[in-house]
Amino acid sequence: MTEQRELRLGVNIDHVATVRNARGGGLPDPLRAARLAQDAGADGITAHLREDRRHITDADIEGLMRELTVPLNFEMAATTEMQEIALRHKPHAVCIVPEKREERTTEGGLEVAREENRLAHFIAPLREAGCRVSIFIAADRRQIDAAHRIGAEVIELHTGAYCDACAAGDTTTRDAELLSLKAMAAYADSLGLEVHAGHGLTYQTVPPIAALPEVKELNIGHFLIGEAIFLGLEPAILEMRKVMDVARSAH
Ligand code: PXP
Repeated sequence: MTEQRELRLGVNIDHVATVRNARGGGLPDPLRAARLAQDAGADGITAHLREDRRHITDADIEGLMRELTVPLNFEMAATTEMQEIALRHKPHAVCIVPEKREERTTEGGLEVAREENRLAHFIAPLREAGCRVSIFIAADRRQIDAAHRIGAEVIELHTGAYCDACAAGDTTTRDAELLSLKAMAAYADSLGLEVHAGHGLTYQTVPPIAALPEVKELNIGHFLIGEAIFLGLEPAILEMRKVMDVARSAH
């Protein structure tokens, strides 16, 4: 990547693998989706290698590392197995996400505050290997403080509760969630953390998030892969880029 955009779009290709795995075999190929996304202007590709390999596989990660020219954001649980895989591949970024119920807070992000010591030790070798370490958390000051203390460079704010409220037409919750996303993006930025956001974003829900000046990257998957069924992946990504840029420049 030559020039960094003010607001980057990371395209998550997990659900291309979900469709492939529904049938077995190799189609549709997540790597092909990644190449297309890259050609359509994605600033990065995101893939989550789950412990149960329900979508992305180890071979997919190898292929992405081999073929991508844009950075790979490797989403993983905080397990020894995933740490070894990340240290083998040394992706541009690793994003630590919860997979088990006990690892997550009520809004779906990683419980960092209760696991501070373990996570600090867990991410240290990843940082030493040159990976940017991101932590996927709710817009919660306690979790942001903990992410900062353990030495993460990036936090990704979980937008799921906000998106769910939008989908349910619950404007009170939507507005409350937006307010805390806004306040916590500013707070994290003031600590020197780079702020990303994602989960559940659509053309409808993305504008207020894209407009937050502290947010530097959005990671979007499920909706884009769904839209790709109707529009094709490239037009879906181009439209998302347009919606993000309009929202950003209006503020
Ligand atoms: N960011 C993180 C950390 C994720 O784990 C995911 C996938 O759940 C996303 C962003 C993308 O979410 P979605 O697929 O709903 O766009």
